[in-house]
Amino acid sequence: MSLYRNSIWFLKGINEYTRKGFEAAAKRFVEKDMDVNVAGRTFMITGANSGIGKAAAIAIAKRGGVVHMVCRNKDKAEEARGDIVKETGNKEIHVHILDLSETRKVWEFAESFKKKYKTLNVLINNAGCMLIQHEVNAEGLEKNFASNTLGVYILTKSLIPLLEKSTEPRVITVSSGGMLVQKLRPGNLQSERGRFDGTKVYAQNKRQQVVMTEQWAKTHDTIHFSVMHPGWADTPAVAAAMPDFYQSMKDKLRSPEQGADTVVWLAVSEAAAAKPSGRFFQDRKMTSAHLPLAWTHSPRDREEKFMVLLEEMAKSFQPH
Ligand SMILES: NC(=O)c1ccc[n+]([C@@H]2O[C@H](COP(=O)([O-])OP(=O)(O)OC[C@H]3O[C@@H](n4cnc5c(N)ncnc54)[C@H](OP(=O)(O)O)[C@@H]3O)[C@@H](O)[C@H]2O)c1
Repeated sequence: MSLYRNSIWFLKGINEYTRKGFEAAAKRFVEKDMDVNVAGRTFMITGANSGIGKAAAIAIAKRGGVVHMVCRNKDKAEEARGDIVKETGNKEIHVHILDLSETRKVWEFAESFKKKYKTLNVLINNAGCMLIQHEVNAEGLEKNFASNTLGVYILTKSLIPLLEKSTEPRVITVSSGGMLVQKLRPGNLQSERGRFDGTKVYAQNKRQQVVMTEQWAKTHDTIHFSVMHPGWADTPAVAAAMPDFYQSMKDKLRSPEQGADTVVWLAVSEAAAAKPSGRFFQDRKMTSAHLPLAWTHSPRDREEKFMVLLEEMAKSFQPH
């Protein structure tokens, strides 16, 4: 069954997630959607030193936005900042150092950002990782989960009051089409049961991001939440985490700019803000977060239980 599901998903990917898939989808894009000046609006982008995050930062900086780059490596971040300023002429690009896998530090960073800055219009949860080996952080949490799920949860939850004070706030989370073959499993968040498979854990985290987005949209109605799949883009993460896939697909992959297109559209366009909050997008289009056979749907109580578990876990690491 799982071979069947994975084959269906891979065929969908070959058609839709590649560069050709992007070019086909782009025929229906409305050019004026992106003809936006966002001067005075503030954007936080995690993982903005590379790939999709950097491409999104450039596109937003070109449109006049203030960009807060949240990155884990100072040298890489400063180098990327230099590139962004040079390419766009926008000097309102700020670097913050945070490793999202360090749970307590995510809290500390978000709380101090809230004290220092008066507005945040858009949060883009872009940073993500696929660690193939089982590793735990200082808090004893599995690191893919700590970075992709709990880090995103704490950063977003902590910044919600600041977003709510700002005009037309939005939160965009970069998930992955890989989540389409995963059903939410709140009973194994630390991957303690069964053989550890980093690819599956990553896909499960990406399903968790979709569920978080749907749930946040229900409880915070002044913020526009969205979650998206960027397609398959040629970035360091793909080359490092999936070398065989990268070798066989590298001529067919999207550019980082093509991968970032829907992120930017969700972050700046009026057309995106007019869509319902809490939905999943691909190539500027709201789309189902489930494959046609729909075996990945979860009952409401399972999704609510997952959010309660995240809240309890997040609180247990909150600084006093
Ligand atoms: N490219 C694709 O085909 C594809 C497909 C589906 C989803 N995605 C998603 O797209 C997002 C961006 O990835 P990408 O493909 O653009 O790869 P990338 O170029 O390697 O960028 C990933 C970014 O995330 C940062 N990052 C990773 N772990 C972090 C942590 N613990 N704390 C802070 N930053 C961290 C990386 O920092 P360093 O540079 O320091 O490593 C880098 O800036 C990810 O969420 C990924 O899952 C990508």
